[in-house]
Parts: sequence; structure tokens; C-alpha cells
Amino acid sequence: MVKGRRVLLGVTGSIAAYKAVEIARGLVKKGALVQTVMTASACRFVTPLTFAAVTGQPVFTNEIDFTENGEMSHISLAAQSDLVIVAPATANIIGKAAGGIADDLLSTLLLVARPPILMAPAMNCRMYEHPAVQKNIETLRTRGIEMEGPCSGDLACGEEGSGRMADPSDIIARAEAMLAQSGDLAGRIIMVTAGPTREPLDPVRFISNRSSGKMGYAIAEAAVRRGARVILVSGPVSLPQPSGLEAYDTVTTAAEMHDAVMGRLGGADALIMAAAVSDYSPDQPAAKKIKKQDDTLAVTLQKNPDILAEVGKRRKRPLLIGFAAETENLEKNAREKCRSKKLDLIVANDVSKPGIGFDSDDNEALLLSASGDATPLPRMSKSRMADAILDKIAILLQSTRS
Ligand code: CTP
Repeated sequence: MVKGRRVLLGVTGSIAAYKAVEIARGLVKKGALVQTVMTASACRFVTPLTFAAVTGQPVFTNEIDFTENGEMSHISLAAQSDLVIVAPATANIIGKAAGGIADDLLSTLLLVARPPILMAPAMNCRMYEHPAVQKNIETLRTRGIEMEGPCSGDLACGEEGSGRMADPSDIIARAEAMLAQSGDLAGRIIMVTAGPTREPLDPVRFISNRSSGKMGYAIAEAAVRRGARVILVSGPVSLPQPSGLEAYDTVTTAAEMHDAVMGRLGGADALIMAAAVSDYSPDQPAAKKIKKQDDTLAVTLQKNPDILAEVGKRRKRPLLIGFAAETENLEKNAREKCRSKKLDLIVANDVSKPGIGFDSDDNEALLLSASGDATPLPRMSKSRMADAILDKIAILLQSTRS
């Protein structure tokens, strides 16, 4: 599962650096978001512009600078990556990583990053065979860092032996395998609903709500990045389809969302209902456009099926996560919803606060679990909040189903 995953590609100063362009291109083609970090000597073999053009992302060179939101770039680069690849990896970077030396951006980042990390050594055969290099490689292996290659053959220096960087296609295949196994949601099937539903009054009018779908889409994207097989059931939104989904259903009404969820729920480990499902719909939508007549117009609404409550009643059910949009008594109302719908977790939003919730890029919430604990999630981007919610879900999945 490469689509939608973040790969950090470290490139060091070896003649094989030009082959790293092929690795970047291959991973981008498979849908990964590749961010490149180059050492100063790598920049003498290939220009950062080449990687920027191939990956469509800015390339980080040696300066340890600050990112937009004020975090140190090496911390956030390492923290946001699903996989770090160092290819080619020279004897120098291998030695620095083994010894814990941090004197440039890439070596610093390797102290921050946690596995999965993949290195593709490339150097002269005598250097590779040197006991110091062999010991460093062994040290890294024992720390969980995987090695691809090197291969034997003609070396750039004119000698023959072991030290040639592994073939880019082999490095990509290894990266794919490592990504498939990594992520705290690897192998989990997670269904997410997002957006509003629309309940027709007549062929041109409908009742709906202000949900933009941003929270649900952010959760779907984050779950893909963390290795889950994600089924997204979306109401009408103006957001692009996230990449790497297992399935993507678009629906309009609450009844359609109900059928789509029920039809695909078998085998799911968790159902995250981020959609703002209309509670009611006009009981008899007009077949033709309603013409303006009297001063008042009465429409009778009927209750829609409650998807979460229905799944909650099942004996065999996935982990259930609901959302509560409240304008008063946030915790009390949300706890009551959590209990009555038999949820494992509820994300409570105070939608009366300006700048968060509906249609905004930020959110603030209270995470309440069925067991009683409450985690306040202060104002943050919906993408960060998605990860905070999934952190809790990953723990619940581990404790209930492993
Ligand atoms: N939900 C659902 N099916 C519905 C309505 C809502 O599954 N027909 C889900 C939503 O996706 C959300 C949670 O239930 O996760 C919200 O619960 P709900 O009781 O609908 O919240 P409100 O609409 O805010 O309810 P109330 O009007 O009672 O506050």
C-alpha cells in the first residue's frame, strides 16, 4: 500500500545518487508523497531541482530550518513520514547513523526517525568490506533498520565487487513491502462516512446542513497513511477523492448512506460516522417542482434510519465511533449519545464556537470513550485531529480485537 503514504527519501553523495531519481519517480507513480532530503555532497551529483521536479515537492538540503507552523523541520519531517529511505547510503551516513552523529539535516533526522527505515548502501567494495562499515551496518540492523543490497558487479571506480547500490526497482519493491506491514492500522478495515446528506423536497430543492466533509476526508486520508484499508462513504461535497482508498461510494440521501454503509460493513474493524446525516427527510418529496402559492407551506418530515444506532444493536459489530455536534451541554449530551447508540467513542464538537467545526479547516473537540475517559483536543487542523482520533481508535482496536 503505497498510495497516499509519506516517504522521506534521503540522498547522500555517491555516484548512484542519479538512480535515486528513479526511486523517487517510481514511488510518486505509485501514489506516494515523496519528500527528498539531500546532503551537501549529494547536491554535487544531482541537483535538488531534479528531485523537486520529479516529486512535485520542495527539496530539503542542509539547512535545518523552521517550517511554516514553527516546528523544526527535522522533527516534523521525520514524524510525518511513514517510511524513511536512504538511497544511496554512503559509508559516511551509515557510520554517522550507527554512531548517533547529527551534523547535518539528514543525519539529524535519522536520530529522530523511528523504523521503518530502509538503507541502500553504495560504495567501493573495499570500503563495504571494511570491518568498521560491516560493524556499523550490523549495529543499524539490530536497531531495526533494513538494508537492501548492495549488489555485486562493476563499480563506478573501475573495480569489481560488492558495493553497487541495489536496483531502484528492488528498492521500490522493498519499500512497498515495508509500507504494507507498517502503520498502527495496517491490515485493519476502516469505514468512514463524511459530508452532509441531502433530502429532496422536490426535483430542485433539498434539506441539508453545513457539513463540508473535511473532517471525514481527513480521517480517511490519515487512516490510509497509517496502513488501513479504507472504505469512504461520502455525501455530496466538493473535495477531491483521496488516493489509496479500498472503496469510495458517493451517496446523496440518508437512506442511500444507510444502504451503502450496511452493504459494505461486513468485515470492517471500525465504523467512523463523521457524516452529518439528516435526522429527518420530507415524507413525500414532490415529483414536480413545487410552485409558489400560499403565504405558508407546510412540509411533513419523517425520521431517517439512524445508521449508528442500528449497527450498535448488532451482536457482532465493528468498533463504533460517532460525532456529536452540540450547541449546549457538550459533554452531557455527547455522553448520552454515546450511551444510547452504544458507541465505543464519540467526538464531541461545540459548533457554536466560531472558526471551528462546520466548513472550517480547524476543529476543537472532546473525545469521550464508553469507558468514561475524556480527552480534550484543543483547536488544531482537521488533519492533525484526524490523527489524534485515530491514535485512540488504534489503541481501542488493539485492546478489543487482538
Ligand atoms: N447518525 C447516524 N444516522 C443518522 C443520524 C446521525 O448514524 N440518521 C450519526 C452521525 O453520523 C453522528 C452521530 O450519529 O456520528 C450524531 O448523532 P445524532 O444523534 O444524529 O446527533 P444530532 O443530529 O446532533 O442529534 P440531536 O439532534 O439529537 O442532537
